[in-house]
Amino acid sequence: MPLPRSGRPARGGVTRSRDNPRVSLRAAGIQAFGDEVALLELPEPPPLETGQVVIEVKAAGVANWDEFVRTGDWDVGRVPPLALGVEAAGEVVDVGPGVEWPAAGAPVMTHPLPLPYQGCWAERLVAPARLVAEKPDNASWAEAGAFPVPALTSEQVVAEVLDVQPGETILVNGAGGVTGGMIVELAANSGATVIATASESSAARVMALGADVVIDYHDPDWTSLARDAARSTGIRAAANAAPGGEADALSTLVDGGRLATITGAPPPEERGISIANVYIRPDGDELRLLAASLAEGKLHIDIRASYPLTRAADGLAQATKGSGGAVVFEP
Ligand SMILES: NC(=O)c1ccc[n+]([C@@H]2O[C@H](COP(=O)([O-])OP(=O)(O)OC[C@H]3O[C@@H](n4cnc5c(N)ncnc54)[C@H](OP(=O)(O)O)[C@@H]3O)[C@@H](O)[C@H]2O)c1
Repeated sequence: MPLPRSGRPARGGVTRSRDNPRVSLRAAGIQAFGDEVALLELPEPPPLETGQVVIEVKAAGVANWDEFVRTGDWDVGRVPPLALGVEAAGEVVDVGPGVEWPAAGAPVMTHPLPLPYQGCWAERLVAPARLVAEKPDNASWAEAGAFPVPALTSEQVVAEVLDVQPGETILVNGAGGVTGGMIVELAANSGATVIATASESSAARVMALGADVVIDYHDPDWTSLARDAARSTGIRAAANAAPGGEADALSTLVDGGRLATITGAPPPEERGISIANVYIRPDGDELRLLAASLAEGKLHIDIRASYPLTRAADGLAQATKGSGGAVVFEP
């Protein structure tokens, strides 16, 4: 009798079948919202549906947004018991009906929301093929695994919401962070003049990403320093990636400017400034274009730390502290 598509042996000799209670999926996540992150043994995925693929995860991003999933504040489409993690890179090991690309063996990365089965902190992941992008050869698994969320968010802020124009001056508040740094890079790539805020220890890294001016946000006068740096043109667009920094970022803008914040806390409107509260949108086409920029060296991601799934709580704790670089799990 032929096996269902997803019942074929996966790499590593694991047979995936709902009927075989002995096999299970090792993951890191929660049994209930609010639980501390722990190692989980989850049932293998059910047979693949049309348009789905299974990815053997090589690296999965860990960041402060995973904390929102842990506490139930970000609906990722599934409830516990739940493997956390909303971005990963790995090798395709099985494809469902109707999938023309990717094929088994392809190295890919994805931000697969809403989750078809479980999150990305697992040995294997079910993802919609349409949300998958090819991993560039010159990117490590860790870089590719931590890339999708900051890259998609930054692109959506810079190109879609703020529609940053060449020659325009933009402020990026919180540029020392992983997403904040990628906003700097994309804004600079689009020909804008970038005024960024970062700690002294992050300033050189942020300059290397394309900022024209870096101001230390610990200086109580940083907003007036930013306005002065923009000279007569003024700051017409601002991206806020610093939790609590929304009102300060707003105050640097000229009347009628544009503010996008990714912190979920938009300030009240004033002076005709448009305010956007931006949440990431999963988008495979966009991720494929961003992957090309990563391959060409136009985008960068620094990996600060890697943990095995057995140390998931430590990894999440480091990521939520904000370590100035990306954290990954490599199962
Ligand atoms: N809405 C969405 O869809 C979405 C998507 C992605 C991220 N986010 C959110 O956006 C925020 C930034 O993400 P991220 O990936 O860049 O985080 P991250 O890598 O954790 O950022 C940490 C960095 O932020 C900087 N920072 C901390 N407090 C600051 C302040 N008061 N002013 C300026 N900079 C400050 C510090 O940089 P220094 O080293 O310079 O001190 C710190 O190293 C997070 O809250 C995240 O949850 C939202």
